[in-house]
Amino acid sequence: MITLLLGVGIIIYLLFKIIDSTDVPKIRGLPEAFGWPIFGSLFQLGTNHSLALSKLSKKLGPVFQIRLGNKRIIIANSFASIQELWIRNQSSLISRPLLHTFHTVVSSSEHFTIGTSPWDQSCKRRRKAAATALNKPAVQSYMQIIDKESYSALKDILQECQDGGKDLNVTPHLQRYALNTSLMLNYGTRFTSSYDELLKEICEVEAAISRFRSTSDNWQDYVPLLRLFPAKSNRANEYRLRRDRYLNILLDGLKQHIANETDKPCITGNILKDPTTQLNEAEIKSICLTMVSAGLDTIPANIIFGIGYLSSPHGQQIQQRAYEEIQEVYPDNDVWEKCLIEERIPYITALYKEILRYFTVIPMCLPRRSIQDIEYNGIVIPEGTLFYMNAFAGDYDEEHFEEPEKFNPERYLGDVEGTSHFAYGAGSRMCAGAHLANRELFTFFVRLITGFRILPPKDEKYMAPTDAMDANQCHTALVAEPKMFKCRFEPRNKELLMEWLDSCRQRIDNE
Ligand code: HEM
Repeated sequence: MITLLLGVGIIIYLLFKIIDSTDVPKIRGLPEAFGWPIFGSLFQLGTNHSLALSKLSKKLGPVFQIRLGNKRIIIANSFASIQELWIRNQSSLISRPLLHTFHTVVSSSEHFTIGTSPWDQSCKRRRKAAATALNKPAVQSYMQIIDKESYSALKDILQECQDGGKDLNVTPHLQRYALNTSLMLNYGTRFTSSYDELLKEICEVEAAISRFRSTSDNWQDYVPLLRLFPAKSNRANEYRLRRDRYLNILLDGLKQHIANETDKPCITGNILKDPTTQLNEAEIKSICLTMVSAGLDTIPANIIFGIGYLSSPHGQQIQQRAYEEIQEVYPDNDVWEKCLIEERIPYITALYKEILRYFTVIPMCLPRRSIQDIEYNGIVIPEGTLFYMNAFAGDYDEEHFEEPEKFNPERYLGDVEGTSHFAYGAGSRMCAGAHLANRELFTFFVRLITGFRILPPKDEKYMAPTDAMDANQCHTALVAEPKMFKCRFEPRNKELLMEWLDSCRQRIDNE
C-alpha cells in the first residue's frame, strides 16, 4: 500500500514538474519576479503589463526574468538596457517567437505577417521586399496618395465641423485615412466613404486580431492546459475566416484589374507583374497582409491621441507655436503643397516625435526570440529565450528623458542624436514602415494645424484625457486604443482652406 501511495505521489510530483517547467531554465544571476506554480507571474501582471512591469523594475532593476506559464521571458524596462539588448545585440535578437493563439489559431490558413514571423529565408525575402517598397525614394513616390487621403479626411472634417460649433468624433475619418493609404499602396483601391461597410469590417476584425496578439490577454499562449477550453480559439478562428474573406476580395479585385489593364500602380501589382519575382503566392499574401494591417491601427491611434492632446488647454499653446513655426518657414501659404515634397518644419517633426514617444502605442513592442547566446552584464542568456521590450517604460525613463511625464515637443528640437524613442521598436526587426508613417503624420498635422484651430468640446464630458495611460481604453490590446472623445475644429481662414482643398482636388482630378 505504502509503495502504491509512494508511486502515485512520485507520478503526481513528476507530472507537476513537467507542467510547471519552463522552455528555458532559470537564468543564473538575473533577478526574477515572483511567480506561482504553473501560471508564473500572470496574476501579478494583471491587464496592464507595461505598467505592472515598470513597477516591478523599480524593485528588481531595469532587466529581469519572469515566468509566464511555461515561458521564461527577459524584460527590458529602461532606455539604456533596451539599447544594449535590442541595438548592440541586434543580430542575436533577430527572430520572433511562435505563439499559440496568433500562429496556430488566427493565422493557420496563410502566412504570418512579417512582424510575427520567425527569422528564416522566407522572412528575409519578405522583409527585403517590404523594406524596398518602403524606403525613402519609394515613399516619396506615394506622396500623391497621402495628398489625396489627407485631403479627403480634412474635407470631411470641414463639412462636419459647423465652423467650430460642433463637438466631433474624428475616429472614422482617421481610420479611413490610414486604411485608404494602405489599400492604395498595396492594391490601388480605396474607400470613398468613412462609413463603408467593408471598411468597418476591416477595422473591426483587425482590432480584434490585434487583441489576440497582446501579451496580457492570451493566457493560453503561456499555459498549455488552458488550450483545453476552446472558447477563445473559436472566436480567433471566426476572425481568421472574416480576415481571409476581405483579403481575398482585395487581391482578386486587383488581379481582375490587372487582367483588364485598369489597375493603378501599386506594390502588389508590381510584384504580381514582375516575372523575376522570387516570392511565392503565400509570401505575396503575407506582404499584403502586413501592409494592410501595420498602419491600420497604429497611425490613427497616434493622430487621434495627438488631436486629443492638442484640444487640451496646454495643447492650445502647442498649436499656436506650431502654427507660427509653419508660417515662418512658409509665409506664402504654399505649405499644403510643399509638405508633400519636403519635411522642413522642425517643430512639426518634434511634435509628431513627441506624440510617438508620449503615447507609445505599442507599449510592449513585438516579442523577440534570441538566436544566439547573449551576454548581459556578465550574465549569459541562452539562445532561444524570449525578450519583451517594455517600450513605454523606455520612453518614460527619467535617466534618459527630462520630465518624461510632460508632453513637450521641444525635447526633440536642436541636435538630438541617436534613437529618439521606442515607438517603432529598435534594431534588426525595427518597424519597416517608420519612414512612411512619419510622412503620414507630418503631412496630416501640417495640414490640420494650418487649416483649423482644434478646440475643446462644448460638452465637457467629451473632453479628451491627456495622460497616455488614461487615454487608452484597452490595455490588453497590442496597440493602444484611444478612448472616445470629441473636440471642435474651427477653420482658421475658411476661404484659404477652401482654396487649399480645391487645389488638392484639381491635382487629384488630373492624376
Ligand atoms: C505610427 C505608426 C506605426 C507604429 C507606431 C509602428 C510600430 C511598429 C513596431 C513597434 C514594430 C515592432 C518593431 C520591433 O520589434 O522592434 C513594427 C514592426 C513593423 N512595422 Fe510598423 N509601425 C507603424 C506603421 C507602420 C506602417 C505604415 C507600415 C507599413 C506599411 C509598417 C510596417 C511594419 C513592418 C513590416 C514591421 C515588421 C518588421 C519585422 O518584423 O521585421 N509599420 N512596427
